[in-house]
Amino acid sequence: MFKSYRKVISTVAVVALASVSAMAASDASRTYANGKKVIDGGMAYPVKNGKTSEYYVNTQKAYKDVKFGRPATANEMKAWDIDVMYDGTGLPDGQGSVEEGDEIYEAKCASCHFDFGAGGAGYPALQQGNAYEIHETLKLQRLHPDDDGPKRNFGSYWPYASTLFWYIKTGMPHPAPMSLSNDEVYALVAYILSINEIKIDGEELDDDFVLNKENFLKIKMPNKDGFVPKIEGKNGLENARKFYDNPKNFGGNKTRCMKNCFEGEPKVARIVGAGISVFNPPLSSKKEKPAKKEGAAGGNEAKTTYEASCAVCHATDAMGAPMVGDKKAWAAVLKKGIDAVYTNGIKGINGMPPKGGTALDDAKFKAVVDYMVSQSK
Ligand code: HEC
Ligand code: HEC
Repeated sequence: MFKSYRKVISTVAVVALASVSAMAASDASRTYANGKKVIDGGMAYPVKNGKTSEYYVNTQKAYKDVKFGRPATANEMKAWDIDVMYDGTGLPDGQGSVEEGDEIYEAKCASCHFDFGAGGAGYPALQQGNAYEIHETLKLQRLHPDDDGPKRNFGSYWPYASTLFWYIKTGMPHPAPMSLSNDEVYALVAYILSINEIKIDGEELDDDFVLNKENFLKIKMPNKDGFVPKIEGKNGLENARKFYDNPKNFGGNKTRCMKNCFEGEPKVARIVGAGISVFNPPLSSKKEKPAKKEGAAGGNEAKTTYEASCAVCHATDAMGAPMVGDKKAWAAVLKKGIDAVYTNGIKGINGMPPKGGTALDDAKFKAVVDYMVSQSK
């Protein structure tokens, strides 16, 4: 998800793969609805000559016990460690107004999250219900579930606004994560606070309200104290104990459990030998470095843009987008003539957001379409 940290993430993912596979050793590969085979855990390894390629083992400085991966460098850690915490740690300098946020939202978010964060067509709503009129806080929800309880949306559910900042900064817009400036993220958070009718110092935020690092910490989310027990402060531990001592606090069957929790034996598959044994297609015996991406060094711009902004939907047909490489699908698209296809792409059509959610100019967008067409002949 974070472009520049793929290397680190893939090392972590490989570790995760080993543990995920522990549960699925007997069925290490699955077939998705679109026919694509993946190793369990959702990792899709490249298949070459009918063989699943082995992941690349970096022997530079292998961990003694794990035998793959390498420690992340200090700079990689720094680039990766971009949390924004509830107490403001990690919050960058910057500012943005509700009005600016509204404009950015229209341009970069509304194509998926719809006007005023209403959500729909499978995309999450960014506001729902009136945050301050929740009948039941999350705490009471456990004991007396109620349809009017907090929805799993930002305004009525999330305890801290810092998560929103972090989420947008690192994950959105979906096709181009990490592309927003800090000012833009402040503006978007201000706008999303306003459509959720969240108050700061008792006031709703009007269009010219400017959110910055200082007033950010004054945001108190309506359901902040709904999450129990309260673990902050000097009585935190005591509060937690009391809470967990009261079986009523667990809803449902009101019991907690550390052993003999299952009726009968839980089914846990063990790792077979040293790791996964079943691959489909079979595992290659060659260890290869991932192919260098051409274009990454300024070569083929259209290809790079396609990979960064369009492949998320166009690399498979799972989202209903014509899949790059699928000759039949593209022949059908091109029947209406390339000009109509350009226009549909630029204006958006059905599940295709205008310009795929990017801010490319028309010429560059068309070049990306040409690239996709050239790969689908
Ligand atoms: C191409 C479609 C797309 C665009 C454009 C987009 N998003 Fe999203 N957004 C998604 C999807 C899909 C999810 C759900 C991701 C998930 O759950 O893994 C999501 C989730 C979110 C969430 C978390 C919602 C929740 O309650 O969990 C927030 C906040 C968000 N987006 C904000 C934004 C903002 C702000 C922008 C504009 C800068 C934006 N998104 C642009 C597709 C998009
Ligand atoms: C959020 C998912 C998504 C992203 C991101 C996306 N597309 Fe699409 N695209 C679609 C879907 C879905 C369709 C099929 C729309 C239909 O006809 O129902 C489509 C269709 C198209 C078409 C065919 C239009 C026609 O006339 O039928 C083109 C061209 C296209 N996309 C180009 C792009 C380019 C270029 C990018 C990146 C800059 C991109 N798309 C990014 C989902 C996406």
